[in-house]
Amino acid sequence: MEHEAARPQVVRGLEKVIAAETNLSFVDGEKGELFYRGYNLHELAGRTSFEEAVHLLWYGDLPTRAQLDAFRTSLVSEMRLPTQVADMLKLAPPNANPMVVLRTAVSALGMFDPDGGSNLPEANDRKARRLLAQTSTIIAALHRIHMKQPILSPDPRTTFAANFFYTFHGRMPDELEHKAVDTVLMLHCDHGLAASTFACRVCASTLAGMHSSLASALATLKGPLHGGANTKAMEMLEEIEGPAQVEEYIDGMLADGKRVMGFGHRVYKTEDPRTRHLRELSSKLCEQAGLSHLHDISEHIERVVHERKGMFPNVDFYSATTQAALGIPKAFYTTVFAASRTAGWIAHIREQYADNRLIRPTSKYTGGFDGKWRPIDQRG
Ligand code: CMC
Repeated sequence: MEHEAARPQVVRGLEKVIAAETNLSFVDGEKGELFYRGYNLHELAGRTSFEEAVHLLWYGDLPTRAQLDAFRTSLVSEMRLPTQVADMLKLAPPNANPMVVLRTAVSALGMFDPDGGSNLPEANDRKARRLLAQTSTIIAALHRIHMKQPILSPDPRTTFAANFFYTFHGRMPDELEHKAVDTVLMLHCDHGLAASTFACRVCASTLAGMHSSLASALATLKGPLHGGANTKAMEMLEEIEGPAQVEEYIDGMLADGKRVMGFGHRVYKTEDPRTRHLRELSSKLCEQAGLSHLHDISEHIERVVHERKGMFPNVDFYSATTQAALGIPKAFYTTVFAASRTAGWIAHIREQYADNRLIRPTSKYTGGFDGKWRPIDQRG
């Protein structure tokens, strides 16, 4: 008889399995640190714009002033959507999950992209810029459609973050809002081999194109155990009347075996480094927007969950109140995560193409071997 230890073991959820090499980002789960190409996130946060972080991920270093200006201009110039895709957004049912619409629209963009059929590096660089720019346009345009307002064109004189806010809300952000959108986008850019990043690398490893790979990533991000947790965190906050109700509410959830959305992480065993920056933004923005009660409830939840379970908030928890204070409806929170992570996904897709090997693991078969075919009338 075969020895138990010699049998292949299934690693459920691929936990701790090293499935790819990357020089894009590193998550240190023990120390609670995140690095983009060697730069500690705390070094970048608050002083590095989204475009600079994207340049770092895509081209290997932070840009010079001239490189940044050129990169920004090229992104803004790619923000326009093909008319057919803009029309498609108008056909989506108003109550459709914005992540479903975004996933569908990004997939549809592939049919209209002039470089759609090419996987050459130069074509992929053009597609990368176009896709990053168009993703944010889709999100903003969908919100404008929901608000029965005209879709807006970006302002070439300003930043990616300000344009996102402007095309979403129809007004330019104030200084704090601008800083907040830029920082939220910068903080979500990349995060090692998150489930959505793995999904897009699997797709890219078949040499399917960039649009297909991004559609895989978007489909994966949508789930409540991944990017969908920020929307779920806000649904929870809305059910709690005030800080005094927090203990009872959380204890009830835990007693029912429910998960507190926005808490826990597969890799971090201590505080997620993004939390510090989001908590700070949430506090300032909620005060400015008259939503301090939501931030206060969040801080109480953080304390109670830590006391009961020793768990820390992840990126999705304070992202909820931060986005609420930016006037973003909760159904759109995950799309904002996606607008940013598109940069990381694109970097991973190109890294995969540059040194590709088909990702095709194997499985442990648990079925039988003695099936006997019978004519259809003799089955059952
Ligand atoms: N609330 C309550 N209990 C939890 C939670 C939570 N949020 N997260 C983990 N646990 C418990 C879990 O029940 C289990 O307990 P026990 O050992 O008694 O059965 C223990 O902690 C270990 O959980 P696990 O499911 O083995 O851990 P995991 O590494 O598979 O889970 C996770 C990671 C993110 C899926 C999980 O923490 C979770 O479901 N969190 C809530 C959803 C969420 O916030 N997702 C966002 C993830 S981070 C950003 C992103 O990817 O978008």
